[in-house]
Amino acid sequence: MDRITLNTPLDMHLHIRDGEMLREVVRYSSRYFSGGLIMPNTIPPITTKEDIFSYRKEILNSIENDIFEPYMSIFFKSSYDSQFLKSVRDDILVVKLYPSGVTTNSDGGVVSVDLDEVGDTLSAMEQLDIPLSIHGETNGSVFEREAEFLPTYELLAKTFPKLRIIMEHISDRRTIELLEKYSNLFATITLHHLAITFDDLLGGALQPHLFCKPIVKSGKDRDALRDLVLNGHPKIMFGSDSAPHPKEKKESSNGSAGIFSAPIVLQGLVELFEKHDKLENLQPFISENARKIYRISPPQKSITLVRKEFQVPTTYGEKIEIVPLFAGKKLNWSLEDV
Ligand code: DOR
Ligand code: ZN
Repeated sequence: MDRITLNTPLDMHLHIRDGEMLREVVRYSSRYFSGGLIMPNTIPPITTKEDIFSYRKEILNSIENDIFEPYMSIFFKSSYDSQFLKSVRDDILVVKLYPSGVTTNSDGGVVSVDLDEVGDTLSAMEQLDIPLSIHGETNGSVFEREAEFLPTYELLAKTFPKLRIIMEHISDRRTIELLEKYSNLFATITLHHLAITFDDLLGGALQPHLFCKPIVKSGKDRDALRDLVLNGHPKIMFGSDSAPHPKEKKESSNGSAGIFSAPIVLQGLVELFEKHDKLENLQPFISENARKIYRISPPQKSITLVRKEFQVPTTYGEKIEIVPLFAGKKLNWSLEDV
């Protein structure tokens, strides 16, 4: 097969920032995806109805003629009550919870994710049927952070059985058992957690452009995640976690966490699924699972990829240089122009 067409691709975890960076990066998603779940960790974060509206407007103004649905989110605050949540329910797809300090721009997040601090808000969300999206990491030792967060996921899944909880960008094979155990737990997985390991990040010369939160894990973890996705697990959606930072902020003595993957994720996913002879399971991962889990009807779009070598540019951006995942590498598949 030399061509593959994907129907209505969705990226259910996407950072597109705002201002100049937004204008640099949004096209790589809006052109090739039908929609994306836009993360709220801007500076300052999205926390009010006005923020949601103005951010959505800024995105729509930046995408020119592309048909793309920006599914919006707000940044979890324990102060959100039922009345506030009701007033924004139709404007957002999820409330995104960040434990304070665990990743880029999360300082205003939750200090301790326990029922005393978050219980009332989660109970209101459960009643209003607003899904909860979580960056599930503690502030512990870097490779243990996701595993250390599992008891919290379990507590929330048990306490709020009707609340749909999305475990974002899962990276550790120990998370899988929990995903299987509770019917209200779902997950997103990135391309980078399926493709690379800490040996790629740290095994030779340090690769700052592969540094992200959660940190990429071992080959065993990567293979366990691959197994799920390649076999079409219905509770897992694609979420790129594409997170652009200027080149100089990544190549710094205080390097930012985040991998910019938006321009190459579709090519990378086709290559991975083809290599494992599982192309038939890419479509649910990239679209149907999310449509069912989130009960959304995104605008229809067909994206064709062709078997043609694609040399990934070493940087993207006109005014800001941004280094993508797989910079300078050759991929076997290219996007056919839409
Ligand atoms: O590596 C990351 N970068 N992980 C996140 O969770 C946030 C993201 C960002 O916003 O840069
Ligand atoms: Zn993210």
